[in-house]
Amino acid sequence: MKVLLVGGGGREHAIAEAINRSPQVDKLYCAPGNAGIAKIAECVKIGTMDFEALTAFAADNEIDLTVCSMDDPLCAGIVDAFEAKGLRIFGTPANAAIIEGSKAFSKDLMKKYGIPTAAYEIFDDPEKALAYLETAKMPIVLKASGLALGKGVLICNTLDDAKAGVAELMMDKKFGDAGSKIVIEEFMTGREVSVLAFADGKTYKLMSSSQDHKRAGDGDTGLNTGGMGTFSPSPFYTEEVDDYCRKNIYQKTMDAMAAEGRPFRGVLYFGLMLTPDGPRVLEYNTRFGDPETQVVLPRLKSDIIEIMQACIDGKLDSVDPEFEDNAAVCVVIASGGYPGSYEKGKVITGLENFDGKEGYYCFHAGTAFNTDGETVTSGGRVLGVTALGDTLIEARANAYKAAEWVHFDGEYMRHDIGKAIDAVK
Ligand code: AMP
Ligand code: GLY
Repeated sequence: MKVLLVGGGGREHAIAEAINRSPQVDKLYCAPGNAGIAKIAECVKIGTMDFEALTAFAADNEIDLTVCSMDDPLCAGIVDAFEAKGLRIFGTPANAAIIEGSKAFSKDLMKKYGIPTAAYEIFDDPEKALAYLETAKMPIVLKASGLALGKGVLICNTLDDAKAGVAELMMDKKFGDAGSKIVIEEFMTGREVSVLAFADGKTYKLMSSSQDHKRAGDGDTGLNTGGMGTFSPSPFYTEEVDDYCRKNIYQKTMDAMAAEGRPFRGVLYFGLMLTPDGPRVLEYNTRFGDPETQVVLPRLKSDIIEIMQACIDGKLDSVDPEFEDNAAVCVVIASGGYPGSYEKGKVITGLENFDGKEGYYCFHAGTAFNTDGETVTSGGRVLGVTALGDTLIEARANAYKAAEWVHFDGEYMRHDIGKAIDAVK
């Protein structure tokens, strides 16, 4: 069969790698792809929001299945646009993608259906938000309700910080319209775990757990980023936690969405915090996490295409995604300055060191070809170097060893990805 993958980040490179492992796939296209994806798929120059061109490409090239796992196109209705033309697509329709597209929606959903999450209030008037803060307990968390590349969350330690945060989000519109409405929520403490699930509208099937590292600097310092590294599985996602979440979070969310007339299909991402009072939902996403996908999918034993087809057909109860009994660690190599401003166009050397090395992956996130055909940096997060191992400790050692195989000017990585593992050694 022919498959079209929409996107061009590290997540898409990992999805492309998993799709290519499926015995059913003869040809993979990726729009727009990147320099790494170009090695394993035919890249086509179509933007991820150009639904006209994407659907025309799928129809003209007799694509059997399109796959999209990006928040912007899903929230804007890419699934609906494909289905309106009778084209088959794996992803979440817009009316359910709102679970990520509006934090105000998802918080209200959790409240209505008794799904454990931080206490919160929603504001669309900055004056009312400021007045509320005067009586609130610090630290406190401010969130732009709309999509903000994972960066619209401010953790404020003092009242002054919180007031400045309201100004930044609602008045200065740092994240544009995403901040017209904000969620102000209780600050929670605990370890974070990401749990991804395939979903078909009724049934969900979990993938192996993982943990992201969202802050830019070692020791969880610095600004929030899209994610600087991940490991999978999370040793903190114990049977007890899994049990609790199955009873109180996962099926309840599926049922809540169905009851709201928004049955959820695609990939549902549960961002959890394991607080002293039990697991709480930090956020939902309507897609594979990035860089979580870069450690989860290399461990997937099952045929991803079979699972995706079952999600579309409402037959997920008949498949069981299986994962290898091993571990993976991903270290993101970023451009110096990220998540602030950074330079692009730096030549990347050493990529060939990954050729033929089983258990090692160099997923490309922000890369492109220059006019000389060299692979150069083109984004903040440039590469996701992932390695497998029998244990997390082995996978981490392998990932940091492999991170030394590639270089570019101004490269930056965290040196403590997976340090938390040592607590359970
Ligand atoms: P979100 O995009 O909502 O997952 O938030 C981004 C990051 O901010 C999370 O991964 C947490 O590290 C942190 N965060 C979000 N909400 C809270 C909260 N209520 N308490 C503490 N930290 C939070
Ligand atoms: N790594 C967090 C996310 O994908 O939203």
